Order: sequence, then structure tokens, then C-alpha cells
Amino acid sequence: MPKKSKSKFDDFERIPSGIPGLDRLIEGGLIKGSTTLVSGAAGTGKTIFCAQFLMEGLKKGEICMFITLEEKPEDIIGDVKRFGWNLEKYVEDRKLFLDFQDPFQITDITSPLLDKIQQNKIERVAIDSTAVFEMYYKEAAEVRKQLFKLLTGLKGIGVTSILTSELPEETKTLAKFGVEEFVVDGVILLHYLGIGEKNYGSIQIRKMRRTNHEKDVFPMEIGNDGIVVKKIEY
Ligand SMILES: Nc1ncnc2c1ncn2[C@@H]1O[C@H](COP(=O)(O)OP(=O)(O)O)[C@@H](O)[C@H]1O
Ligand SMILES: [Mg+2]
Repeated sequence: MPKKSKSKFDDFERIPSGIPGLDRLIEGGLIKGSTTLVSGAAGTGKTIFCAQFLMEGLKKGEICMFITLEEKPEDIIGDVKRFGWNLEKYVEDRKLFLDFQDPFQITDITSPLLDKIQQNKIERVAIDSTAVFEMYYKEAAEVRKQLFKLLTGLKGIGVTSILTSELPEETKTLAKFGVEEFVVDGVILLHYLGIGEKNYGSIQIRKMRRTNHEKDVFPMEIGNDGIVVKKIEY
């Protein structure tokens, strides 16, 4: 598979995703300041994707933020330790803001979040996952309104963000609430294949604004170093 050629008009600053094999599918990386939705069923690697994306920034000295709406910080720290990612150290050094937001304790997630990102000059944000919005707001319209506010807010301040959305297996939609996929700049779909002993999955770039991205479904493996996107073998 040839490396995706860049358009000569592409002068966007690209941010390496931290996922080996992914950036060559998207002209070198995520556009700085863009929002990308990572959707997939349970166990497809969404949380690992978030941690890996942030680790890439942390290794480069960027200030990062991990908002978890489902798992407690200590669980996340423990989950990714086996990939050799020591999130705890970055939290202690105040390079990583790892926040668990209890959806039942807060009424507005967006405004405090945007303030914190700006005050601390945060460059990468991961929000895992939007599913919690459903528990949080009773009306579907309210969920969509809040998500819209969050996504447009993130884009407005120009921070590079990843959001995850948990989808039921075999669904045809790209995102849980039917609003995320329109507002975000990119949509990455993860699928679980479950072939053999190895943890095989697949990854597909369904949308990436301002990017001549690959359209195929690529094999993806979760191993000792995290997620790796493989080449298609013909
Ligand atoms: N060390 C590992 N080696 C291989 N696969 C792993 C490892 N750790 C987790 N996994 C796989 O990753 C899955 C969990 O990924 P996760 O990012 O938590 O999924 P999601 O957030 O989409 O539910 C597990 O179900 C398992 O299949
Ligand atoms: Mg998860």
C-alpha cells in the first residue's frame, strides 16, 4: 500500500496520532485543532486508542487531558500500564489532567472543560465516551444539544480532540446520537473480528475533513504495545 500522497495545497499542521500505521492513511496525521470521533462496539479498543493518542503527546512534552466518563482514573491507569504507559507519572508532573466526571454530579460539562483546557494550554484531549450523555440527559434532543455544544466548543478553541462513541454491534450508524458524526471533522470506525487467538480488529476512516484519506477497511491488532494498524495483504 503506497503512502497516501499529500495534496500540494495541504498546509495544515498534522498531529501524529500515536497509532503506528494510522497516519499514513490520513496524510500524515490528524489536523491540529480538529475533533475526531472514534466509534465502535464494546471491546474494540476505543479506550486504548485514547490513551495511545495522549501518550504520543505526553512523550513530546505536550499537556494533555483525559476525560473519562465511564472509568475511574485509577482503573484507566491500571488498564494501560501493561502497554508500558505510565500515566501516573504524567499526572504527578501535571502534564496529564486525568479527570473522571461523574455525570450525576455535574450539570454542565462543556464550560468548565473548555476553561480548563485554555487555562492549562492543553494541546490534546480525549473524551471517553459520549455514551454517558444518555444517562445524564433524559431527552434525546437535550443529549444532542449538549453534545453539539461540547463539540463546537472544542473546535472553537482549536484543541486536537478525540471522542469515543460506543455503538451496538452490527449497527449501520456511525455514532450513537446521530449528531456527533456531522459536527466532528473525522470519524474512525473500529470493528471487532475475533479471528483466531490474536486480538484482531479492523479500522476504517469514514470521514476526515480536508484529508485525502484511505477508504478501505484495514486490519488492526491490539498487542503488547497497544494498537497497530496493519497493511492489507492481497
Ligand atoms: N494487553 C493486551 N493485549 C492484547 N489485547 C488487549 C490487551 N489489553 C486489552 N486488550 C484488548 O482490548 C480490549 C479492550 O479495549 P478497550 O480500549 O478497553 O475497548 P473499548 O473501550 O472499545 O470497550 C479488550 O477487550 C481486549 O480484547
Ligand atoms: Mg472503553
